[in-house]
Amino acid sequence: MKNLVVLISGRGSNLKAIIDAIKDGKIRAKISLVLSNKKDAKGLDIAKENGIKTKFIDPSFFETRRGYDIYIAELIKNENPDLVVLAGYMRILSEEFIDTFEGKIVNIHPSLVPAFQGKDAQKQALEYGSLITGCSVHFVTKELDNGPVIIQAAVPVLPEDTPQSLSERILSFEHRIYPQAIKWILEGRVEVKGRKVLVKGAKYGTIPVNPQLEDF
Ligand code: GAR
Repeated sequence: MKNLVVLISGRGSNLKAIIDAIKDGKIRAKISLVLSNKKDAKGLDIAKENGIKTKFIDPSFFETRRGYDIYIAELIKNENPDLVVLAGYMRILSEEFIDTFEGKIVNIHPSLVPAFQGKDAQKQALEYGSLITGCSVHFVTKELDNGPVIIQAAVPVLPEDTPQSLSERILSFEHRIYPQAIKWILEGRVEVKGRKVLVKGAKYGTIPVNPQLEDF
């Protein structure tokens, strides 16, 4: 059975979407550990409710980010994961961590990367005046929020949007694309060549959202 370790910092709605996809038999895997850098992360409760082992590792006990990452990398290695899944994990990973799990770490980011990296990507898109934004699942490399892209969903920005309303619209697509990308990877359908990712059997070439196109 394939095994996932999920890293979170907060609400855990993407974690929940992954758990639900496992329960529904869409992803054939188990989650052996959910690890958080925040004690009060709601996602820890979601994991516990689903009988998943959790760990909160307090960053304040470590002098450096590197030290913290080396420690959690050891914990994660013990789980022998096929994939390390960042689901709202709001800490930059050090190079050692990324090297340890090279090619086996995925992240979801609420923008069409490489746009709007870092925090509050939805607010950044709104303030920039983008008319289309979205979310991306990508492999994690040493560039922040910017590794090879596995899947993206395009989401329109509406004139009346607030950061909250836009985030909610994007989030519903995050919950769809993240489990799907994980399924693809665990099924061995994902091939990475440099920056490009090819998914065997995936549909290409249709864009569901072109909000401003009209008869012209
Ligand atoms: C999600 O919107 C995710 O895309 C974002 O944090 C939120 C976590 O929500 N991640 C990042 O911005 C990473 N740079 P969740 O805890 O409910 O899954």
